[in-house]
Amino acid sequence: MNKKFLDLGLQPLANNYLINQKKLSIKNNELYKLEVFFNLKSKLVSISKKIPKNKMFNNKYPYKSSMSKTMIKSFKNLHKGIIKDFNPKLFLEIGSNDGALIKNFKKNEAICVEPCNNLARITTQLGYKTYANYWDRKVAKKIKRKFGNIDVVYAANTVTHIENLDSVFQSIFDILSQNGILIIEDPSLLECLKKISYDQFYNEHIYVFSAIAVENIIKKFDFEIFDIQNISTHGGSLRYFIKHKNNKLYKIKKSVSKQINLEIKFGMKKMNVYKKFSNSVIKSKKKLLKLLKNIKNNNKKIIGYGATAKSTTVLNYCNIDNNLIDYFVDTTPDKSNKFMPGKNIKIYKYDVKLLKDVDYIFLGAWNFKDEILNKEKKFKERGGKFISHVPLPHIF
Ligand code: TMP
Repeated sequence: MNKKFLDLGLQPLANNYLINQKKLSIKNNELYKLEVFFNLKSKLVSISKKIPKNKMFNNKYPYKSSMSKTMIKSFKNLHKGIIKDFNPKLFLEIGSNDGALIKNFKKNEAICVEPCNNLARITTQLGYKTYANYWDRKVAKKIKRKFGNIDVVYAANTVTHIENLDSVFQSIFDILSQNGILIIEDPSLLECLKKISYDQFYNEHIYVFSAIAVENIIKKFDFEIFDIQNISTHGGSLRYFIKHKNNKLYKIKKSVSKQINLEIKFGMKKMNVYKKFSNSVIKSKKKLLKLLKNIKNNNKKIIGYGATAKSTTVLNYCNIDNNLIDYFVDTTPDKSNKFMPGKNIKIYKYDVKLLKDVDYIFLGAWNFKDEILNKEKKFKERGGKFISHVPLPHIF
């Protein structure tokens, strides 16, 4: 049974950056109600309204993993670890995006699956076998027929996007070799609750997983988690290493019970913790608005840095428009000269000149705080300040 605990109001599609300023409407299916639920049985946290996948993942998908040095470094290390620990003959990535990870593999040992054509084209051009498809049993069968079983299947920030989890895991079950393993990584619900990062919820993030929920979902396929790594990407994620119960090559590490115990201790099996989170989210909204309004009343200029999908949730939930934030800067070419969905704040292609007369930067990409602070030392040196709403709105 699903119980609602969070109401984030009317939201647009988070990655639907607009070419022109536009007032969005519910009638035209441009706005939807974003509510978040906790399933009392499976302990799975999910959003209410599921948007048809082709409206979210198509040939205009703007997000590119290679836009950040942090992600490139994280994928390089992951590649090394996979070769060292599992040395797969065949590696398959579901949701390969622009090939940020795949590029580390040899062309004859890696296969990409990516439904967004604009991204699939990139890995195809790089010379990797790429299936421009949504992940399902059909494409798994097709790949198996051509290449046989896969030794390591990997999906980062992808499973959370797919509504039918049974189909995801069944298709992986179908294609994995006998001693094959599955690695998935997604934002950690524990980190989300601790950081009050309610912006992890938007139309694409159908689920924000806990280890408790993942364990419950995969057991019907006789899969079990044998290792969990806490990683810093996307504001704190978990990398789950999963195997079939009959695969005796790998022992279940202590990291699994450690994570699950942390989650239980935090109260994540019970509704109460989600209600508390919801109250903190309301407080966070009030505090952020007060802080931004105070700055504006002192005639200071605020801009946004990192036109993230997460920012769309914050702007629309808190009702922040270009009266408070003048514009956003972002390095992603496909976001340039567009507008933040729902709040019509212009996005400019990042150029350090755009920070010249800025007093405050709202960190839309707070998950890349270290990388951005390192890049913008000069802004800080001349007295510029940053604003982050995580863990609670503050200036630094
Ligand atoms: P994400 O939080 O969904 O991964 O998106 C991060 C966004 O922030 C992406 O659009 C790229 C942008 N970005 C910058 O504009 N400058 C930077 O230095 C970094 C690290 C990210």
